Amino acid sequence: MKIRTAVLPVAGWGTRFLPATKAVPKELLPIIDRPAIQYAIEEAVASGIERVILVTSEHKRAIEDHFDISSDLEAILEQRGDIEHLRAVRAVADMVHLVTIRQKEQLGLGHAVLMAQDAVGHEPFAVMLPDDLIFGPTPALAELMSAYAATQASVLGVMRVAPADTNRYGIVDPDATLPTSDEGRTIPIRGVVEKPDAAHAPSDLAVVGRYVLSPKIFERLEQTPHGLNGEIQLTDAIHTLAQEQPVVARHFSGTRYDVGSPEG
Ligand code: UTP
Repeated sequence: MKIRTAVLPVAGWGTRFLPATKAVPKELLPIIDRPAIQYAIEEAVASGIERVILVTSEHKRAIEDHFDISSDLEAILEQRGDIEHLRAVRAVADMVHLVTIRQKEQLGLGHAVLMAQDAVGHEPFAVMLPDDLIFGPTPALAELMSAYAATQASVLGVMRVAPADTNRYGIVDPDATLPTSDEGRTIPIRGVVEKPDAAHAPSDLAVVGRYVLSPKIFERLEQTPHGLNGEIQLTDAIHTLAQEQPVVARHFSGTRYDVGSPEG
């Protein structure tokens, strides 16, 4: 089945970027000439996604406004004959069909994805975390989508990390009994281990914010117990999913930058 929908959870508090994110959503902090989230949406569109579901919170209204028509601004630009900027602002509004859903309580990434269940329906879908900017020869999500088309398995975007960094990520556990494909870049996995130290890491492949998921994930999310701070972790649900359905990791070819943290 074709992947048509991408879910972008953006309801988090963004505490690592305080005080910059006190009133401005971190997704709207500019990277060169556009807000961070616009890169993820451009990647989705370039990958063939037709519909983006934003999971937002009461503090993130400005994100919706960025992708909406701004009639006053457009009227002023038109009056001034500033066609270049008029085209630029209109292009953002016309970029993609956007649906917004509110996550009323910030109960974790897994909970945010669960909020999109009714809008997604019974079809496989993508999840993109706009904190992860990935630049490369092909859009990272397109690579995951082609791995999905070839395997019909859920796909996790992964990158290699140094042994000292495994404790900052979910690390995939490759299933060595099954063959890899795409010159070793698509790897069947048995599950995901959350933040293991180097001695206990099953590989050096870390999950970053690109996923293609089977709709079965919603059942797993519903059954995932709330953990620390009442949060539902997406990783826990994916680990359980891997026990019953094929899940593969796709080592994408681009370079990833973490724009959710000042160091990144
Ligand atoms: P993060 O772990 O980066 O949390 O969430 P955060 O709140 O955005 O940022 P910090 O850690 O406080 O600085 C990963 C992704 O999941 C979303 C976030 O918006 C981000 O895209 N998220 C997280 C939700 O949508 N809802 C939640 O309840 C938690």
